[in-house]
Amino acid sequence: MTDNETPVDAASSDELMEKIVNLSKRRGFVFQSAEIYGGTRSTYDYGPIGVLLLRNVKDAWWRSMVQMRHDVVGLDAAIMGPPAVFEASGHLANFSDPLVECRECNSRHRVDQLEVENVCPSCDSKDSFTESREFNLMFKTQAGPVEGSGHEVYLRPETAQGMFTNFMNVQMTTRKKPPFGIAQIGKSFRNEITPRNWVFRTREFEQMEMEYFVPPEEAPKWYEFWRNERFEWYLDLGIPESMLCMRDHDEDELSHYSSGTADVEFLFPWGWGELEGIANRGDFDLQQHAKHSGARIEFFDQATDSRYVPHVIEPAAGATRAMMAFLIAAYHEETVNDETRTVLRLDPRLAPYQVAILPLSKKEDLIGPCERILADLQPHMMADYDITQAIGKRYRRQDEIGTPFCVTVDFETLEDQAVTVRDRDTMEQERVPIDGLLAYLLPKIGK
Ligand code: GAP
Repeated sequence: MTDNETPVDAASSDELMEKIVNLSKRRGFVFQSAEIYGGTRSTYDYGPIGVLLLRNVKDAWWRSMVQMRHDVVGLDAAIMGPPAVFEASGHLANFSDPLVECRECNSRHRVDQLEVENVCPSCDSKDSFTESREFNLMFKTQAGPVEGSGHEVYLRPETAQGMFTNFMNVQMTTRKKPPFGIAQIGKSFRNEITPRNWVFRTREFEQMEMEYFVPPEEAPKWYEFWRNERFEWYLDLGIPESMLCMRDHDEDELSHYSSGTADVEFLFPWGWGELEGIANRGDFDLQQHAKHSGARIEFFDQATDSRYVPHVIEPAAGATRAMMAFLIAAYHEETVNDETRTVLRLDPRLAPYQVAILPLSKKEDLIGPCERILADLQPHMMADYDITQAIGKRYRRQDEIGTPFCVTVDFETLEDQAVTVRDRDTMEQERVPIDGLLAYLLPKIGK
């Protein structure tokens, strides 16, 4: 849970974050939840553009972790879980952060994140903190209309436990043999003491996790394999190498289940922060669930007529946090004709829209061709359609939401059955016949 956050130049960091948060609000990426009631700092809503970006991040992960592999299958497990699951996983006993309360202003803080030791960041009082105590991060609620013990459930703090409790179900139904993995994308909930840095640390967020079950002696080899694979995934989707690093956890940082963890870290505006952890969890989880449930959880290897409990290598990423990193890495400002152009240089596979169709005028004659082009392209990609405002303003809007190609339909189109395609990054324009537009775009957007 500790993120290796190192402050960089605070002023420029604040300025960049402010620009990104403003752009996100203005263009419909991310809104504060319940904003009309004052909003919260701990949950966020993904708007019409943000939901597309977030979905593309999750699709890219699913494609690389499930679709492109024969040894990984998917799962969508329940969010609510009985206490027994979290008793066995160790979350009830260990999933906590150290909390102090200020006696002067009653604010609460995570001890390990105080900028100045023994000084309250809310009211600047010195030595006003209570003794530090462990605060469990799980959200507890009750299932059904009866209150009290026996009816408590927890919102999952990670998606991982669903993969462990379903290990036998998945193994028996798919007949997979270790090494094989179970992957899941979904919401997780943590009652973070100090949610902060926009969607970096929130109380409700999405994770993309895969549990890779291996013969015990192969664990070190697969740990190395997944460290490399996961690092490459971010590079392949456009995060520059200078903004990524791999950091091995020190012994005293390791989670209660881990015998080795490395984090993929990203250079956020305020410094390095965790994007994803790759952990060697050993046989901790399967052993714990076997012990607590009484179920037999193991793999029977017919080839050697022997049974063993597989070890687990876990790449665990945050979908919402990764989306934030892709946004930050893509954000560019440049001067064009003495004006500042803001452009998101998102990989076309992640961009909310791959193309925008823009008629030069609202005149009826141009609407027909636009509708035909949309019908051609929409089965293959997300296509925006914008008929408002002057063309320059519409290009700027598409640059700001990262659309890699704008297709302009003008009066010449009626003569030559061709359109102008504008490239987001080079701003170069090319005349392309309508008939050939789909074939022109597909390879450029990674299809
Ligand atoms: N199953 C292991 C596990 O959950 P983790 O490092 O606690 O490991 C994995 O979480 C990833 O989930 C993190 O690297 C981060 O990207 C994301 N994550 C964790 N807590 C988060 C929070 N409060 N808000 C947003 N993302 C979070």
